Amino acid sequence: MSLNVTAVILAAGMGTRMRSAKPKVMHKVAGFPMLEIILRNLTSLKVSDIRVVVGPELKSFAEFAKLEERYNFTCHLQSERLGTAHALKTALSNPPTKPVLVLAGDSPLIKKTTLKNFYRHFVDAKSAVSVLGFFAPNPFGYGRMLEQDGRLLEIVEEKDASDIVKQNNYCNSGVYLVDEAHCINLLEMIDNSNAAGEYYLTDVVKLANNSNLVVTSTTASYIEALGVNDKLQLAIAEKFMQQRLRKKALKQGVTLVDKDTVFFAHDTTYENDVTVEPHVVFGPNVVIGAGTTIRSFSHLEGVVIGSECTIGPFARIRPDSRLGNHCRIGNFVEVKSSTLKSETKAAHLSYIGDATIEDNVNIGAGTIFCNYDGYRKHQVTVGADTFIGSNSALVAPLSIGKGVIIGAGSVVTEDVEDSSLTIARARQVNYPHRAELARRSRK
Ligand code: UD1
Ligand code: MG
Repeated sequence: MSLNVTAVILAAGMGTRMRSAKPKVMHKVAGFPMLEIILRNLTSLKVSDIRVVVGPELKSFAEFAKLEERYNFTCHLQSERLGTAHALKTALSNPPTKPVLVLAGDSPLIKKTTLKNFYRHFVDAKSAVSVLGFFAPNPFGYGRMLEQDGRLLEIVEEKDASDIVKQNNYCNSGVYLVDEAHCINLLEMIDNSNAAGEYYLTDVVKLANNSNLVVTSTTASYIEALGVNDKLQLAIAEKFMQQRLRKKALKQGVTLVDKDTVFFAHDTTYENDVTVEPHVVFGPNVVIGAGTTIRSFSHLEGVVIGSECTIGPFARIRPDSRLGNHCRIGNFVEVKSSTLKSETKAAHLSYIGDATIEDNVNIGAGTIFCNYDGYRKHQVTVGADTFIGSNSALVAPLSIGKGVIIGAGSVVTEDVEDSSLTIARARQVNYPHRAELARRSRK
């Protein structure tokens, strides 16, 4: 199902409570900036009109530019942070032609299904304004939703709440749907006569009621509604997100030997019969093929792994990597920007960077791909069925043919033709009976 809405993500806030130079919505949960998680959800719900309200710090933040490249949204600059209503208004200079779904950039846990149900409820109840509420175990800091006879009357912010109102734990998640016909009129009516001196979007509720419009609310779980305003809430959001991602993996048949010690990214993808041992971290862009085992203490990001591979223990795989089927990456092996085709093995203590390695290659213990000359990175290619002896240094740029044997301890600086035996090290010299002489000369 697609959501036929104009979605506005409010992301311009200063985020002062984070005490960070990084804009709040760029802080990561499950490997992705919170803002990106929301963009991913809206994109997969096929929302075609996504508008993001940004402050100058976010607009000029380098990683934000990557989001602009990757996702289809328009950017609306709110230079003066006058409050959430002012932020929404900034995004509506081009009037919406569909209901306006408002999301806060600091609420990354809202699920797609919840948004779908919320939208359905909004439409079915013929609402002009609808708010997604939740019952907070600790409501401190959230706007309190005041209801009478099941009708939402108004939302009162913490700063403006009386002691009695503060005891109400039915809270505003910061997710709203507002009918496109009334949205701009309602926003025009909002003033800043409150404790913070801000234009509160929450005031649409009271104003819509005053205009006899239909105002409704539905309820989400408090876990989904969590708003991240400080580092403690960021840590809690991470915890909840990990619980969700672990459950999803288990339901899809991944074996997690100790689920609480495995950290997924929001987009980790796996086929059948994957096993993940304790203490594994997945960064973004990892795809794991069927029957593959990821052994303990491995850290993986940006890699597509084929089927029936064994990775780790203590392996590190970095972005732009690709492994074929039946590969083995063993302990203390680092792979970066490299492609290893099927049946290839690097079982111990290696660095493989900027390489393309064909099928059935054996990379001996301690092999280093010397890809960097201090200025630039260079490539190494290794042909099929080649054997690289232990402790070799392959100095890029370099091309090694197929069926080659490289003797242990070689420093290979020149290209190697197919089927060659290459030994590139000083020849060993043995002097019979000279050990005693050598010892004596040192005394
Ligand atoms: C807001 C709600 C509160 C709700 C809570 C849910 C208001 C007045 N209060 O409070 O009722 O319970 O979210 O998490 O709306 N932003 C802008 N421009 C601004 C101000 C804020 O874009 O001028 C953005 C922020 O980046 C943030 C979102 O709006 O993503 C919410 O602002 P924030 O300051 O976090 O509001 P809360 O105090 O959390
Ligand atoms: Mg907030």
